Parts: sequence; structure tokens; C-alpha cells
Amino acid sequence: GNQYFYILVVFLFLQQCSLCDHTLYPYIMLEVLLPAASLLQLMDVRQVCCEFLQSQLHPTNCLGIRAFADLHTCTQLFSQAHGYAEQHFSEVMLGEEFMGLSLQQVCSLISSDKLTVSTEEKVFEAMVAWIKHDKEARLEHMPKLMEHVRLPLLSRDYLVQIVEEEALIKNNNTCKDFLIEAMKYHLLPADQRHLIKTDRTRPRTPISLPKVMIVVGGQAPKAIRSVECYDFQEDRWYQVADLPSRRCRAGVVFMAGRVYAVGGFNGSLRVRTVDVYDGGRDQWTTVPSMQERRSTLGAAVLGDLLYAVGGFDGSTGLSSVEAYSYKTNEWTFVAPMNTRRSSVGVGVVDGKLYAVGGYDGASRQCLSTVEEYNPVSNQWGYVADMSTRRSGAGVGVLSGQLYAAGGHDGPLVRKSVEVYDPPSNTWRQVCDMNMCRRNAGVCAINGLLYVIGGDDGSCNLSSVEYYNPATDKWSLIPTNMSNGRSYAGVSVIDKPL
Ligand SMILES: *[C@@H]1O[C@H](CO)[C@@H](O)[C@H](O)[C@H]1NC(C)=O
Ligand SMILES: *[C@@H]1O[C@H](CO)[C@@H](O)[C@H](O)[C@H]1NC(C)=O
Ligand SMILES: *[C@@H]1O[C@H](CO)[C@@H](O)[C@H](O)[C@H]1NC(C)=O
Ligand SMILES: *[C@@H]1O[C@H](CO)[C@@H](O)[C@H](O)[C@H]1NC(C)=O
Repeated sequence: GNQYFYILVVFLFLQQCSLCDHTLYPYIMLEVLLPAASLLQLMDVRQVCCEFLQSQLHPTNCLGIRAFADLHTCTQLFSQAHGYAEQHFSEVMLGEEFMGLSLQQVCSLISSDKLTVSTEEKVFEAMVAWIKHDKEARLEHMPKLMEHVRLPLLSRDYLVQIVEEEALIKNNNTCKDFLIEAMKYHLLPADQRHLIKTDRTRPRTPISLPKVMIVVGGQAPKAIRSVECYDFQEDRWYQVADLPSRRCRAGVVFMAGRVYAVGGFNGSLRVRTVDVYDGGRDQWTTVPSMQERRSTLGAAVLGDLLYAVGGFDGSTGLSSVEAYSYKTNEWTFVAPMNTRRSSVGVGVVDGKLYAVGGYDGASRQCLSTVEEYNPVSNQWGYVADMSTRRSGAGVGVLSGQLYAAGGHDGPLVRKSVEVYDPPSNTWRQVCDMNMCRRNAGVCAINGLLYVIGGDDGSCNLSSVEYYNPATDKWSLIPTNMSNGRSYAGVSVIDKPL
């Protein structure tokens, strides 16, 4: 009885701690409590511990929790932690815990069909990073690991530019054989590729995680700190942690597991600051600021970089563009656009960044022009104009096509929508939205394009509508946001546990 009481006190104490330090806590928990509970055969304490640890799973600790669960034969926790690591592999592979895995553990993880990665490149990068972490000891494991990287599924460009150039591969014949196999796969006509009989051509089949839409800040009617999420399955809005400070007209994107809110307007100043949201922890932190103040900018992720495009610094519209790398934690300028664009919308299709419409402070005109950025040549060039001028359009990407929804030309707010097809360099009209909207948020998920809030020229809207390209129809979602908001940023994130 006494021991039970003692453990309960420790447990309650640690539960308080969890509010201040999430990373350390599960370990204290495991080191102290779980072995004690096992030893004393207090199965219900053990159960509570395991359930609690499950609720603490995070990309930075899931492999540690998995190892402990293994050690103490907590089967359920083990499989939960393992599944979590597979589902969050893109973030897990960046962490210390991954670097500390044994060869056999890395092999078992990267050979899993259930690994969730945006592209197979991530698996290749993870493997190279693991080897380089302790190159002398691990170099000899390269061929063993390469066996599990599905090289044929990488793009031809990536194979040639990155994989072929990687010294670790160049210097070993067994590794080269895997590369040759991948090249062969690409050279064969599509209907003959099945002749290459190997596990490496089988696409991974991850269990997709439920997603929610996160709506960050905005004007309602002034700059606000509020952040709310929409659960698509439950048709429900709920509040999450507020922004550290008021922010509207920011650029909002999702990158490497976190949501970035870049620049914007805080109610009195255009800012260069960047807030970052970790959904697992429901917590905002900051990263280095941009070099320029920017509100009504466009923000998008291309490769490993977050681009901040154009915007308004408080006195002029900007043509400048800067990019942030989460690896170096730095902002650097890239080539500027040909036009100053505030209230610009951006999107990424097939390795190119597009800047759509906006407002050119110099000629005082809303723009119908569109520019394309090639990160390899670091150059901007014009592509086909839209059919109309659109400033503050909602820009998003669905199935390789770039949508421009609503926006305005002077006082006229639009409900029309047009779509750009990069291969044919043409815009075409699709069905109008239900409402006129400018300065709305946009995101795409499950083959649908969502347009969130905005204003119709007199009111800030709380409604959200989505476009289904299969039916060419816009529909309102059943439940509105708690507030009308324009100039909010929107992104899609994993549903928190
Ligand atoms: C490549 O690596 C394997 C496994 O470590 C080793 O047996 C083989 O000798 C290496 N080959 C070359 C050419 O270095
Ligand atoms: C809506 O937001 C705009 C800024 O986008 C603000 O100027 C206006 O006062 C708001 N309108 C209402 C009715 O809240
Ligand atoms: C906006 O940011 C500036 C500079 O950081 C700060 O001095 C000011 O208090 C902020 N305004 C609001 C309304 O938060
Ligand atoms: C959502 O807002 C729109 C107008 O913005 C309104 O027509 C609709 O009735 C609202 N829906 C609900 C469920 O309140």
C-alpha cells in the first residue's frame, strides 16, 4: 500500500512537470516509474504509465519510448510508438534518437512498407545522415542499408544529380549496382518495368493520418492572436494555442512537421518575425526573422526551403524574395521578381514557384500577370496572364494545377475562379465560388481545394467553401468558423493525438 501511494505521488508530480518540459519527462517517467511498477507488480500503475506515455509521443521521443516499451515488454505501447515513428518518419529522421539507432533498427524502420514519406528521397537522405553521423564505424553498412532504399522510385533528376554524386555510393560497387538497377528501371518503357523483380520498386503504402486544417490569426476586424482548427471528419472547429502576438496578412506554410507564420501586420507595424507551431505540443516558438518587413506576402515551400515572396513593407510593395532553410536556420535573398507584388498569392507545381497577381504599388494597379521561379537557375520569368486582374486572390494547388480564386480589382471583389495548367501555359475558367472573397486563406486536401474566410468588400466572412474538380462545384462546409476573419493563413496538419 505504501509503495503504491509513493508511486502515485511521483506520478502526479511528474504529470505537473509535463506542462513545463515535454522532452525530458517521458524518460524520467520510464526510468523511475515503469520499472518500479513492474517490479512491484502494480499492473494498474503500469497501465496508467503506458497510457500517459502514449499521449506524450512526439517525433523527438518516440524511438526512445519504443525502446523502453520493448525493454519492459509493454506490447501495446511498443506498437503505438513504432507506428508513430513510421507515420512521422520525415521528422523522426532529423532527430538525435534516429542517429543513435543500431544498424538492425534502421534497417527494420526503412524497410517498412508503412513508412510515411512525401518522397523516397527522404529515406535516402535519412540513410546518408545516419552513416555520416559516425562515418568511420558505419561506412561498411552502406550496401546493407541501400538494399532497403527504393531507389527506382526516385526521380531521374534526383538519381543523376544527388545519388550519383554521393561519394558513399560512388566508392562501393555493391552500392553502384543498386544505382544501376534504378537507372535501368527508368530506361525501360513503363510496360516492361515489372520485369525488374525486386522489393525496391514497390511503392510504400503508409496508413494516412487524419488531418485537420489550421487557421492562423487574421483580421476580425483587427489583427488577432486566435488560432483555430477544423476537424474534417467530425465537422468541428476548436481553438488551439494562440499566436505569441497579434498577426494578420502573414504567409502561413507547413514544413518539416511544423507550421510557420511568416511576417504580416501586428496592428501597428509590418513585421519580419516568424512564429512556428508544433501541433504535437500545441506550442508556438520563434525562428530567425526575415531580412525585410513583409505583410500580404506569398509564402510557399519548395524543396527544403520556405520562400517569402513580395508583400508590403509599410511604404512600398516589394519585388524581393527571400528563402529560409530549417537546416541552416537562415534567411537568404534569392532573385527578385520582375514586378513589385503585394497581396500576392503563390503556389508550387512541379518544382516551380508561381507568383499570381497582386498589387503593383508603383503603377497603382491590380495585376493579372503571373511569374514563374525556377530554383535551379534562380530566375523569374513571366508565364501566361490570368484573364482578369486579381489582388488578394486565394491561390492554391490541386493535382498539378494552380488555382486563383476571387480577389479584387479596385473596389470590385470577385467570386470567379481560374486555373493554370503549367504544361500548356494556359488559364481556364472554372465554376464561380458561392461568395465573393478576397484575402481568403487556401489549402488543399483529399483532392479538394478549400477557401477559408476572407472579406466580400463589406464583411469579414466566417464561411468556408471547397471546390471539387470532379464535379466542377463549390460547396460550403456545414459549420462556419467562430469568427469572421480575413487575411488569415491556413495550412493542413496531422490531427493531434
Ligand atoms: C562495398 O561494401 C561491402 C560491404 O561493406 C564490402 O564487402 C565490399 O568490399 C565493398 N566494396 C568496395 C568495392 O569497396
Ligand atoms: C473586416 O476586415 C477588414 C480588414 O480586412 C476591416 O478593415 C473591417 O473593419 C472588417 N469588417 C468588419 C465588418 O468586421
Ligand atoms: C507590433 O510590433 C512592434 C515591434 O515589435 C511593437 O513595438 C508593437 O507593440 C506591436 N504592436 C502590437 C499591437 O502588438
Ligand atoms: C455561414 O456563413 C454564411 C455567410 O457567411 C451564412 O450564409 C451561413 O448561414 C452560415 N452557416 C451557418 C451554419 O451558420
